[in-house]
Amino acid sequence: MSERLEIHGGQPLDGTVTISGSKNATLPAMAAALALPGGLLLSGVPDLLDVHTMRQLLTSMGTTITAPHNGQLFLQAPDTLNPNAPWELVSRMRASVCVLGPLLSRFRHARVALPGGCNIGHRPIDLHLRGLAALGADISISEGCVSARCSQLIGTTIDLAGPAGPTVTGTCNILIAATLAKGHTVIRNAAREPEVQDLATLLNAAGARISYAGHGTIEIHGVDSLGSATHTVSPDRIEAGTFAVAALLTNGRLTLQHAPTHALTDFLELLQQVGARLTLLPNALIVQRDGPLRPAHAIAQPYPGIPTDLQAQLMALFACTPGESRITDLVFPERFRHAAELIRLGADIHVVGNQARIRGVSRLSGAPLTATDLRASAALVLAGLAASGTTILHRIHHLDRGYQHFDEKLRAVGGQVRRLSESSG
Ligand code: EPU
Repeated sequence: MSERLEIHGGQPLDGTVTISGSKNATLPAMAAALALPGGLLLSGVPDLLDVHTMRQLLTSMGTTITAPHNGQLFLQAPDTLNPNAPWELVSRMRASVCVLGPLLSRFRHARVALPGGCNIGHRPIDLHLRGLAALGADISISEGCVSARCSQLIGTTIDLAGPAGPTVTGTCNILIAATLAKGHTVIRNAAREPEVQDLATLLNAAGARISYAGHGTIEIHGVDSLGSATHTVSPDRIEAGTFAVAALLTNGRLTLQHAPTHALTDFLELLQQVGARLTLLPNALIVQRDGPLRPAHAIAQPYPGIPTDLQAQLMALFACTPGESRITDLVFPERFRHAAELIRLGADIHVVGNQARIRGVSRLSGAPLTATDLRASAALVLAGLAASGTTILHRIHHLDRGYQHFDEKLRAVGGQVRRLSESSG
């Protein structure tokens, strides 16, 4: 049943938040289990909707999945399975496309529905397909599905640069496929996101021979087969960044346990420019204001730049920061649907092309809002926490896709957030 959040703003958040395992590292890791005949034990798996959807997809193919302990999954893909990712699941979660590489490399055949349009802009998969074709896959598109077949993948040099930079899940797909290709593969302009490095660590633990040559180049020496692996997913840098913004917006103080600060350097530098005082502890980060907030220009770009997945949250922060701030998104230039909802709270935002100009207002005021996508939902919750009065956020299944127990974590640090079913009064 559809649910909504009721947010009473105005309270500073104070306390400790434990950062969960990364969603975007978990999803390709789960897909990689298809290529591991010996099975994969994953720890640090976050409890969120996209993980449940990936579980459903892999199970529908014939993978056995158990949860030995809290936050763990054991995935075992049999020697023969049904290599189909249907539209019903792919349309719910684009990361389903990560099964292409592992299916093709181990089972030599994959059929995956084309993901189609999306709320954060145009998201083609041409680079994934070009890379797999370069490895020798025969690719065709019919009835809205990609079919990929091969008798043997052969190592080669692949350049994954697209008009907006490298592709994250595309790199994951090519990495897994090349692991079992014959000979040597070089991926140039590979995505450098930590989630890709997490996947390479997992694959190497299963017997792959992947090494980083620097400057976005990955080298892979193909092996005949992979074995099994035990892997712990890294903490979620986007969840950590989201709570860091929450601390600043509400003028509170949050201790972010397990925050992966090394994976957020540019973002944290920007927060300091905006007026954050950051205190690094051995395995935690304390975030609070260090005086009044100051305007800034945030440019979302591929890693190690400021993540596009934190752009909406920054917009909520800039909406309450005196002076004029700007946001440019070089990764998803149309990812600004949250601007219209923030304007409903009283924000002063103008979007032109891939840039938003935000003039801070002294106070936002609560209103009914509609969540449009995952990160936009988080931004709207944060804005609601900073606004006066009550904000109601509808369509929060978007939020549940990518944040583990977001409202519970907020309540634990003083956020006045209630989850209600759409049918309740
Ligand atoms: N692109 C192409 N061709 C392709 C693939 C991508 O032109 O074949 C373009 C895209 O249109 C975009 C840019 O390249 O302009 C980067 O897209 P990318 O492929 O890297 O995105 P993705 O792999 O589909 C992942 C994350 C997203 C995150 C982006 C960018 C997962 C499961 N998803 O998506 O996360 O925004 O990388 O960092 O890892 C989220 O968690 O909310 C989310 C959307």
